[in-house]
Amino acid sequence: MPHPDSPALSSHDAHWWRQAVIYQIYPRSFADSDGDGIGDIPGVTSRLPYLADLGVDAVWLSPFYPSQLADGGYDVADYRDVDPRLGTLDDFDAMVAVAGRLGLKTMVDIVPNHSSDQHVWFQEALAAAPGSAARERYVFRDGRGRDGELPPTDWPSSFGGPAWTRVADGQWYLHLYAPEQPDFNWDNPEVREDFHHTLRFWSDRGVAGFRVDVAHGLAKDLGAPLRDLGEQQSYHPDALPADGSHPLWDRDAVHDIYRGWRQIFDSYDPPRFAVAEAWVRASRRTAYASAGGLGQAFEFDFLGAPLGAVEMHTVIDSALADARRAGATSTWVLSNHDVVRHVSRYALPGDPTKRDLEEWLLTDGRDPAPDLPTGVRRARAAALLMLALPGSAYVYQGEELGLPEVADLDRADLRDPMWVRSGGRVKGRDGCRVPLPWTREGTSFGFGPAGSWLPQPADWGTYAADVQSGDKASFLELYRRALRLRRTLVADETLEWACSPEQTRQGLLHFTRAGGWHTVSNLSDGHVPLPPGEVLLASGPLTGDELPPWTSVWLRTGAASEH
Ligand code: NOJ
Repeated sequence: MPHPDSPALSSHDAHWWRQAVIYQIYPRSFADSDGDGIGDIPGVTSRLPYLADLGVDAVWLSPFYPSQLADGGYDVADYRDVDPRLGTLDDFDAMVAVAGRLGLKTMVDIVPNHSSDQHVWFQEALAAAPGSAARERYVFRDGRGRDGELPPTDWPSSFGGPAWTRVADGQWYLHLYAPEQPDFNWDNPEVREDFHHTLRFWSDRGVAGFRVDVAHGLAKDLGAPLRDLGEQQSYHPDALPADGSHPLWDRDAVHDIYRGWRQIFDSYDPPRFAVAEAWVRASRRTAYASAGGLGQAFEFDFLGAPLGAVEMHTVIDSALADARRAGATSTWVLSNHDVVRHVSRYALPGDPTKRDLEEWLLTDGRDPAPDLPTGVRRARAAALLMLALPGSAYVYQGEELGLPEVADLDRADLRDPMWVRSGGRVKGRDGCRVPLPWTREGTSFGFGPAGSWLPQPADWGTYAADVQSGDKASFLELYRRALRLRRTLVADETLEWACSPEQTRQGLLHFTRAGGWHTVSNLSDGHVPLPPGEVLLASGPLTGDELPPWTSVWLRTGAASEH
């Protein structure tokens, strides 16, 4: 087991995360070392030098725990082990040690809202009688109707269908996601204690931080009688009450849980860090991100906003203000394992909503036809915008290669529970989880020595890391150069706007950071004049003194050229 003071975890940088670039690895799709078609931990280790070279500060691994993969690993059967298909705890320790030597920190995903139905506790609960201590670790209730044949409440599952499933003796259990993901009862001290154990287990192994799944769901109002939602069926953040009174989501009591976690985090040197995945109203995000809480909360408005100057200006301002209120820094995310990859989002006409994207996926990505060169151009501009903002940037694997969504996966290959639970109305998230291409040629394009668990498109090799490496015009080299330059920025956490409201309305974003650093983004179809300064990096070719449409540039002005 690596000592917590391994090279990447020095007590001198307790605040390493404030301006870090954190690379999200979806382990089953990253690199396969043993040829079973599933990415694994030794595969991750083998590619760590690539990530160090890319210039990221940390890796965050989506779940790699034993799981029957009912929800891509977010159904955890054992929180303190590695799925045997992905390796062993020794492999994990070796990965953390190699990461440390390369100067990379390791973060893991914690899934506290629900376990897998294969978890030993749930199996015990099924075998035990109603009212037993084993059932009290989850949320079992009698049904309604004459014979209890109706679910206890009208609560929907986030994946579609009811949030209750009936067991053999007639009781029902709660699952806000798939039936294979029973929700824990966080009123039960045993559940709380067990997660403390898990947090210490990984912290002791040298893990620097945690991404907390569904962080807003743990504290539920489970007092009798359970309340129906009636008209309030939506779990969308803006539909949740602003006062924390929803029976399921974002209740104030959830923060008691995280205050307990914070004591554990702070018992380490450096303190462990956590970022909340909390789908709550912006005004309520602060509590998750506070120093006495998890420390940071994902800001998904940036990801969801249209790539327009006015919209981005608004989102950036409010994210920075939220983070300041929390004493944290903001997070910036363009893609992750739950959304359509942004090259494809930006390749579609208009500004597609989540619903539009779901419909687009159902057409196998044909209608409307994506304009990929435009998507690439916009994604490159968005990358330089994001990577210059103060705060932490979360980069999803393959984003640095400019991968598009694989929207035409055969329906027979789909694994996302959304596909089945929605009765074929939502295709789901498999298209952003297709295993990475590392080499132009070869079985599974270098993903592994054999095939890949999700089929890769025939042209996947053109995106391969080895094709892009060294090609100055490539996506990969843009990210590499940007991350190298970004290191000179991060000592300072402030941003000042240098564009007028009128310029913003015309599509221009311009802000400065310390040291005469300017970021200028032209998010419009017209040309705009390029401000003076030394060009450090541009997301696309520049034409004379103009910034072409959908292009971002980083400039530096010295004292002489500043006026
Ligand atoms: C959020 C995760 O990112 C997603 O992949 C998962 O399906 C749900 N939480 C449930 O764990």
